[in-house]
Amino acid sequence: MDLLRWRRDVRRFRTDPVDEAVLSRCLDTFSLAPPSVGLSEPWRLIRVDSATARKAALENFRAENTRALDGYDGEKARIYSTLKLSGMQEAPVQLAVFCDEETAKGGAGLGAATMPETRRYSVVGAITQFWLAARAEGLGVGWVSILDPPDRLTRDLDVPTGWQLVAYLCVGWPETTSDTPELIKVGWEDRHATLPIQTR
Ligand SMILES: Cc1cc2nc3c(=O)[nH]c(=O)nc-3n(C[C@H](O)[C@H](O)[C@H](O)COP(=O)(O)O)c2cc1C
Repeated sequence: MDLLRWRRDVRRFRTDPVDEAVLSRCLDTFSLAPPSVGLSEPWRLIRVDSATARKAALENFRAENTRALDGYDGEKARIYSTLKLSGMQEAPVQLAVFCDEETAKGGAGLGAATMPETRRYSVVGAITQFWLAARAEGLGVGWVSILDPPDRLTRDLDVPTGWQLVAYLCVGWPETTSDTPELIKVGWEDRHATLPIQTR
């Protein structure tokens, strides 16, 4: 429970490198235990390392973030403009995580016939495990979705057709740790007071 309590979305990173062995232990979670529909294991990772690829991703984020700000008015616009919504400028490790929608190894379609989106859900489950493993190592992870994935990032990263962007993850040593989500601290949103569960 402590691990869950202290898992946060991190946007402020120290710039010192992450030891490859530590990162590798965290990445092992993708092959160790994640459930996936029909055992399709549809996750595909791109490590975004080159200056060119990072610049393209950062410019993408900045453009979409500006567009997102334009969609708010008043107090929400004021708060949004103060938010730091990615650590893409500092994070030493950056991973673009895709779902291979046309995977040959698709578990022969088991479980995905009526709900093909379950492939993407499988990728999300795997990311969550990676996130917890990273936190257990003291690393921070930040999930960036303020991107224009279909038209831009997939092209800039030159990924095969059929790959859908699920997450852009920033990984590194966090500047600080907290048990409270940043969006609660700044007054953007609160947690549910109770679990939304009904009985039928
Ligand atoms: C699918 C997904 C997309 C997200 N995209 C962003 C993002 O683009 N920028 C950001 O700052 N946080 C992003 N987050 C982080 C959430 O804002 C964060 O998880 C939420 O505020 C709760 O905070 P916590 O993760 O610290 O508990 C994303 C989280 C998820 C699950």
